[in-house]
Amino acid sequence: MEVQIQEGLKGKTILGNSDQLKSVLVELINNSTKALQRSTRILHKSDRVIQIIAGYEDGIIIISVKDNGSGISEDLTERLFKGVVTSDMGSGMGLYISNKIIHKMGGNLKLESSDQGTTITLEFAES
Ligand SMILES: Nc1ncnc2c1ncn2[C@@H]1O[C@H](COP(=O)(O)OP(=O)(O)OP(=O)(O)O)[C@@H](O)[C@H]1O
Ligand SMILES: [Mg+2]
Repeated sequence: MEVQIQEGLKGKTILGNSDQLKSVLVELINNSTKALQRSTRILHKSDRVIQIIAGYEDGIIIISVKDNGSGISEDLTERLFKGVVTSDMGSGMGLYISNKIIHKMGGNLKLESSDQGTTITLEFAES
């Protein structure tokens, strides 16, 4: 796992509950780990990538979790934030709850996914 903290983030703070933010990050990393484990495209463990990038640009603090797993289908993406999805890998509540937590903190959760992988980006206005 690679963690990158960008220079511009220095001295910037996110207003909110840090335990909740941590739980969201743990959830996203767990999801990426599970996705990489079941990926049929990435056969070698050494080719699995999870990248966490934290940065700041134009008044927005960004934290993104990116993996090169098999991605999330469009159909599933549409259902994810509406409620609980059926899942054989867990309870299927993780992303739904994460999205709620981030919005409650005044932030935004964006999902980008293709068959090359998934990136979830959390955005917060500088406080
Ligand atoms: N990074 C990812 N790459 C590929 N698929 C993903 C990724 N994150 C989530 N998914 C898909 O979305 C589904 C729902 O994710 P979510 O975190 O909401 O539930 P879960 O991980 O299955 O269960 P829980 O988080 O409650 O233990 C997952 O089961 C998986 O199919
Ligand atoms: Mg999950």
